[in-house]
Amino acid sequence: MTSKFRVSGLTKSYGTNVVVDQLDLEIEEGEFLVLLGPSGCGKTTTLRCLAGLETPQDGTITFKDRMVFDGQSHVNVPAHKRNIGMVFQSYALWPHMTVRKNIQYPLKVRNMKQDIDRGAVEAAAEMVDCAKLLDRYPSQLSGGQQQRVAVARGLVAHPDLVLFDEPLSNLDARLRDQVRSQIHQLHQKLGFTAVFVTHDQSEAFALGDRLAIMKSGKIEQYDAPEHVFENPVSEYVAAFIGMGNRLELRRGHDGWMTSAGDSIDLQRATVRGLADKGTAAVARFRPDDLMLHRSMNEVPAGNVALHAELVTYEYGGRHFDVTVKTGTEELTLRANAQEHSVALRESKPGAPMVVSFSPSALRVFAADTADADAARQLAAVPAEAAA
Ligand SMILES: Nc1ncnc2c1ncn2[C@@H]1O[C@H](COP(=O)(O)OP(=O)(O)O)[C@@H](O)[C@H]1O
Ligand SMILES: [Mg+2]
Repeated sequence: MTSKFRVSGLTKSYGTNVVVDQLDLEIEEGEFLVLLGPSGCGKTTTLRCLAGLETPQDGTITFKDRMVFDGQSHVNVPAHKRNIGMVFQSYALWPHMTVRKNIQYPLKVRNMKQDIDRGAVEAAAEMVDCAKLLDRYPSQLSGGQQQRVAVARGLVAHPDLVLFDEPLSNLDARLRDQVRSQIHQLHQKLGFTAVFVTHDQSEAFALGDRLAIMKSGKIEQYDAPEHVFENPVSEYVAAFIGMGNRLELRRGHDGWMTSAGDSIDLQRATVRGLADKGTAAVARFRPDDLMLHRSMNEVPAGNVALHAELVTYEYGGRHFDVTVKTGTEELTLRANAQEHSVALRESKPGAPMVVSFSPSALRVFAADTADADAARQLAAVPAEAAA
């Protein structure tokens, strides 16, 4: 008897394009697992394989004691017999059915008439604040309401596993926060098992009991959010979870240096996969961990100070988002508005700036061109800095 959901060696390709590549996952009963990765890395395909909507070439999928897919012995339980709930990015409500009929649907196909009679539909609608909307059609609802109805439909039959495919992506920022918080509260209350797919790091951190960070059809890191946040295993993960600042380092006779020639003591940094004799490395750190100073005198003891020049700044209310350049590299930071407003407003691009960081903020990785390319692409993804 096991309460885990297990995916092992899952492989799915289209023609020669291997989209899911011998992927392993283990989900505890009641766990909210977030699958995080950039567009095209295979998240939706993985989810569709779990749901039984795609047939993988290889691997096994077990839901607790039940084998639902086995590539070797050709077990392939059809989607409607896997007892899953699904919530899609596009809501996917049936337009010709009322909210009541939409929510009722999973109960009907499972012959759970007793639940319908006992008010399960009304209760599910109530859960997502849609009790007053039961007789409306989807076209008469806002996007946020439609997605809440879709969540109710996904949960109403108490499925073994609930799959969410970027359900918040089509909502505007305010609604996104509302529905996210509602999903989080529902999970805390009902304790269903979930796999939630997103490309948004702040969603992932907010919702996940564990995060699986995906890269090219494989899981790159599988860990609690706090561990991923503090100890990304690769530059790829670091870039994806908000460590937007990147410094190329090289080892000279007297130790490590930035490309601008500033020396950096890596004693207090977290170093991963760097060979003793390696001469090139990459440091990643968060904009929150870079400080702006009015002069060198203000640099805290133990910090690495860098001479930089101003590139640009943007006002953000309590803070400014500031971009500076050191050598060839651009770094971003968040400066307290009260403290820096006057000086920043008087500065032109190119003005000299002093910035510093604590070496303990650095995550250092072996320089890897493939990772650097991937990381550059990721930096172009609009991911909010995880506060
Ligand atoms: N039905 C399909 N036929 C061919 N290629 C597909 C199909 N579905 C997905 N792909 C390809 O698989 C890759 C991963 O897609 P997907 O799983 O949708 O990624 P994600 O959800 O992470 O954005 C993409 O390159 C996509 O073009
Ligand atoms: Mg997708």
